[in-house]
Amino acid sequence: MSQDKIRNFCIIAHINHGKSTLADRLLDLTGTIEKRDIVKQTLDTMDLEREKGITIKLKAIRMEYKGYQLNLIDTPGHVDFTYEVSRSLAACEGAVLLVDKSQGIQAQTVSNYYKAKEAGLKIIPVINKIDLGVGDVEELKKDIEKTFGLKKEDTLEVSAKTGEGTKELLEKIIKDVPHSTGNEDGLARALVFDSYYDEFLGVVAAIRVVDGSFTPQEIRFIATKTKTTPQEIGFFKLKRVKTNILETGEVGYIATGLKDIKTVKVGDTVCLKDEDPKSLPGYKEIKPFVFVSIYPIDNSKSRDLREALEKLSLSDSSLSFEPESSSALGFGFRCGFLGLLHADIVQERLEREYNLQLISTTPSVEYKVTTTKNELLFVRSPSDLPEKTKINKLEEPWILCNIISPAQYAGNIMNLCKDRRGIQNNMEYPNEKTVVFQYELPLSELIYNFFDDLKSTSSGFASLDYEFSDYKQVDAVKLNILVHNEIVEPLSTIVLRTKADEIGRKLLKK
Ligand code: GTP
Repeated sequence: MSQDKIRNFCIIAHINHGKSTLADRLLDLTGTIEKRDIVKQTLDTMDLEREKGITIKLKAIRMEYKGYQLNLIDTPGHVDFTYEVSRSLAACEGAVLLVDKSQGIQAQTVSNYYKAKEAGLKIIPVINKIDLGVGDVEELKKDIEKTFGLKKEDTLEVSAKTGEGTKELLEKIIKDVPHSTGNEDGLARALVFDSYYDEFLGVVAAIRVVDGSFTPQEIRFIATKTKTTPQEIGFFKLKRVKTNILETGEVGYIATGLKDIKTVKVGDTVCLKDEDPKSLPGYKEIKPFVFVSIYPIDNSKSRDLREALEKLSLSDSSLSFEPESSSALGFGFRCGFLGLLHADIVQERLEREYNLQLISTTPSVEYKVTTTKNELLFVRSPSDLPEKTKINKLEEPWILCNIISPAQYAGNIMNLCKDRRGIQNNMEYPNEKTVVFQYELPLSELIYNFFDDLKSTSSGFASLDYEFSDYKQVDAVKLNILVHNEIVEPLSTIVLRTKADEIGRKLLKK
């Protein structure tokens, strides 16, 4: 299809502001999916996503409307899955910034807005859930204008539940989102923005064609240097639709037939086998923050666990793992995650999708150790922490976090952050009802129920967004647990020296 008839866009929002429901309405309106096939949150295909009501994976779907091809890439809203958002942004020209009328602007609304802006996308502000009685649309429009500089008169109002305003939104996407301007006659190249493994077709790469076009002739992945002849080319309409051609500006897939999952890397550029175009910028490498050891309860399953982790990491580039063994638990893996929800989700997926029964250790962060011999070590597992006589300096990771909350909870939030060794950098009131804090916090404090405590101290209203900031020195020690006088290494944790006694006594009581 000619590029001026293609619009590639995503929906960005804070968690639960209604992205997946809005996507359902758009699928319905464009007749992409028969009404009877629309289940709630159609794009949330994993059982886990529907049960938890959250989107974990990005998904791409093609719609047709009034002669236009509209490619929607659904994205997750939780802070742990931010990397998925950056991946979709790189494949789009426009973003619908969705804000829940009853909740207003939240932490991920702000961070996703800046990501879309940085990626140079056209942003369409939209207020969702206008069918609800709570919240004031006019006030929220003013807030959006003040916070993001997006004009009040450009903000649309929709109800993803009833469908009101969604037709106007589709028209606006066609009118305002720019079409791609790739070189149709240039050397074919496309960005790999996602991939998954199919038993029959091997690795299936989701791609956005930037220049030229792809047909089932031999291709090459530039970074991994892998060459293959595609088994199938097409686009997603919830299921795969085979077309055997993808043209400039289009979004779709290439089923590579490759069985080795390491040969296709998300963020890589794919081109034709004998051509040599410049690689596309790709993505920033994402570093895991939180580390958990995972062991199969039945130790004969550790090879299955490795295979399952390899398959999951194919489409989840932020998941890392390395083998580990313990005399008590056998062979397992030290896995790195972006946050606790990410760790929970991966563990649940391993158990459900790969039929494994697992046991996992307390989450820990990555410590930086300077030894007395001046060596620098990064310690992801408490069992790797050198003896204290060999440590010259111990540092722990800190994060920079933004917290947005209704103003009446400001005092509670300040107390909570103080309790967790937080340092306040900034506090402001963008309007009389809202407070925005910027805090520096040790990551180890954040992973121990900080999110739950923040929610309960603010009656569920505060939201949080964070990024890694720096390493700072800490006075911490290793807390060992002994069973029959023997240390069980996977149960060891690193804790503040001043809290070691209290934590040890609590564990004894359990
Ligand atoms: P994540 O992908 O996890 O970030 O969530 P999401 O943004 O996709 O939100 P989702 O579509 O799952 O909607 C969250 C909740 O809001 C669900 O219970 C929806 O039924 C509800 N919801 C979505 N849109 C509307 C709306 O326009 N009106 C009302 N009343 N409820 C809505």
